[in-house]
Amino acid sequence: MQSKKSNSVIFWMLAKLFMAFWRRWYLLRRRGWEVLFRIEATGILDNFKCGNGVRIDTPIRIGGGKGTLDIGNEVWLGWDAAQKLGKGTILLQPRLAESVITVGAHTQMSNNVTVIAMGKISIGKNCLIGDMTSIIDCDFHEIDPDKRGAGVGPIEPVSIGDNVWIGSRVMILRGVAIGNNSVIGAGSIVTKSIPSNSLAVGVPAKVVRKI
Ligand SMILES: CC(C)(COP(=O)(O)OP(=O)(O)OC[C@H]1O[C@@H](n2cnc3c(N)ncnc32)[C@H](O)[C@@H]1OP(=O)(O)O)[C@@H](O)C(=O)NCCC(=O)NCCS
Repeated sequence: MQSKKSNSVIFWMLAKLFMAFWRRWYLLRRRGWEVLFRIEATGILDNFKCGNGVRIDTPIRIGGGKGTLDIGNEVWLGWDAAQKLGKGTILLQPRLAESVITVGAHTQMSNNVTVIAMGKISIGKNCLIGDMTSIIDCDFHEIDPDKRGAGVGPIEPVSIGDNVWIGSRVMILRGVAIGNNSVIGAGSIVTKSIPSNSLAVGVPAKVVRKI
């Protein structure tokens, strides 16, 4: 006879299996085969909103994200003609249960883009985001050597307006807001907010002219 303990282990495993199938079935019914196979779904799907006509040309990794991921209509993820490392996987990770990442309608993101939110990262409509760009709202470590491994450092929301063009290999750090229509040159590190209608370049990124 099986012990109560082994019965509960079997029940727990069956429940997990059922949940995994149910989530995939739910996705398949709502979004079709492409999303089913292109999105590595781990634990986030209850809070996953995907608009209509979303085009996915590279794998999307959600990692261990537990928060909300909201992708607007006709967003385009991955760009076959651009350079890619490996499969060009894009990481969209609202890491904590309360974390939120929103991507506005018609925004295009190239290969190997990373967006990790501990709090909130919002990306507007009609943006172009170049390959290998990283957008993060947290330092993930403390400056203080005694606390460095323990804390995650300050968390400050990041917001990117509408119609913003971000070149290749840009880093956008915590607390940054980029205004509508602005352009960030390739390889820039954006540590402070950039107003609307501005061209900003360099490390750290500075506005060089209005558009
Ligand atoms: C941002 C960009 C479009 C600006 O082009 P532009 O309007 O012709 O700008 P300019 O060449 O007049 O540059 C203005 C100044 O900024 C500097 N600059 C331009 N881009 C820079 C960059 N990425 N990093 C650092 N400085 C840069 C220029 O050297 C120039 O400096 P100067 O006035 O001291 O001579 C272009 O430089 C760029 O980064 N292109 C790459 C975009 C990209 O990554 N595309 C692929 C992915 S979508």
